[in-house]
Amino acid sequence: MKLWAGRFHKELDPKTNDFNSSISFDSRMYQEDIRGSIAHATMLGACGIIDKVESEKICDELQKISDEITAGTLPIDPNAEDIHTFVEGELTQRLGSAGKRLHTARSRNDQVALDIRMTLKKEAAGLIDQLKELCTVLANKAMEYSETIMPGYTHLQRAQPITFGHHLLAYGEMFLRDIGRMQDAVKRMDVMPLGSGALAGTTYPLDRRMTADLLGFAQVSRNSLDGVSDRDFCVELASAISLAMVHLSRFSEEIILWCSWEFKFIELDDAFSTGSSIMPQKKNPDIAELVRGKSGRVFGDLMTLLSMLKGLPLAYNKDMQEDKEAIFDAVDTLKLCLTAFIPMIDTMRVLTDNMRAAAAKGFINATDCADYLVGEKGLPFRDAYRITGELVARCIELNETLESLSMEEYQKVCPEFDEGVYEAISLEKCVNGRTVYGGPAPENVKSQAKGMLKTLEQMK
Ligand code: ARG
Repeated sequence: MKLWAGRFHKELDPKTNDFNSSISFDSRMYQEDIRGSIAHATMLGACGIIDKVESEKICDELQKISDEITAGTLPIDPNAEDIHTFVEGELTQRLGSAGKRLHTARSRNDQVALDIRMTLKKEAAGLIDQLKELCTVLANKAMEYSETIMPGYTHLQRAQPITFGHHLLAYGEMFLRDIGRMQDAVKRMDVMPLGSGALAGTTYPLDRRMTADLLGFAQVSRNSLDGVSDRDFCVELASAISLAMVHLSRFSEEIILWCSWEFKFIELDDAFSTGSSIMPQKKNPDIAELVRGKSGRVFGDLMTLLSMLKGLPLAYNKDMQEDKEAIFDAVDTLKLCLTAFIPMIDTMRVLTDNMRAAAAKGFINATDCADYLVGEKGLPFRDAYRITGELVARCIELNETLESLSMEEYQKVCPEFDEGVYEAISLEKCVNGRTVYGGPAPENVKSQAKGMLKTLEQMK
């Protein structure tokens, strides 16, 4: 029977009941729902709104219900309207009139607002832990490959030499910002809405601060309408998750490229690669492709939340029941992606010789050649740039590199050149010299990686 049966003459149509029900996706909040109810009942007892002994009975029985659901001995009724209805119904069946007092001064509207906040605070903490683990893996790998020279790219064209450690730390920085965004979102989620009632608060003398303290909330919501209507914290978390997926998809794209025979910069461990059903030679980076592909559904979740909220009048509307599937899907997708992605990165084999060989082609030391003319010979940069361009064109004609081009050829283009140029354009020199703060030189990478590990340590 429905909670509202008193006002009605008929049961809800069975197919419509399925349509209306949220139990299939909100039962994952059973622990939060029950913890919220225990705090509410404790507060009602402490404030003399319900009898203290009854309050204790309610709390004990609620704890039993929670334990039984966890143990699998109490199955959740798939026909219940939602998890709130199921738990209250079960409690009332067991305790009779004491159970019926639990919902005093509460509505499912403030109850569900509380449950989602509690659930997302917990889920966000889990995602933050996974992102920290990823950053730790990246910082350690960056340390290991701080001296590994690879070509840096713009437009996917070889551009200037960098170190692999520097490249990895770029992703580390992105994921650190993702952590920061999630921490920010959690701050605004950390507001306790119970006491908002259906929309207009309550006449009972509640101690809302006490409920908040029992549940570990920093603040109590200041406006009852906002307390039950706000879902912007879901949008904020979905947006932070979306950006983390953007970063993972960019990283995945590079992993996929690096695994190709055209690059062959890395080889993924067999445990994180797949084969083909027909082509015996294939080793595919499916994990990275799936992560890249799954970013789309997360952006869809963000759009779902924004569109669901847009134009809704205050206060609660049933549309808002649609918040949970979207935000849970976003949370679960990122969690799943990170679970596969972190060990995939941790176990990949870095083919440093191939990176070095790729860096030797593509004239990625051309800027350094121009800089040599500026620094050693006092030419204006624009002239040095033009001269180096001519040298590159000559190299292409002769099928040479800047390293192998003869001094005679150099001097034909510009008589100022001398043997010193060969040292100036050596890749090691080019990379080691980029010591400007934020640059790719090995010493920078080592200290940036150390700094990242320290930042992560301090977050604990
Ligand atoms: N299952 C509902 C939800 O997720 C709970 C709140 C229902 N409140 C109501 N007045 N129908 O939003």
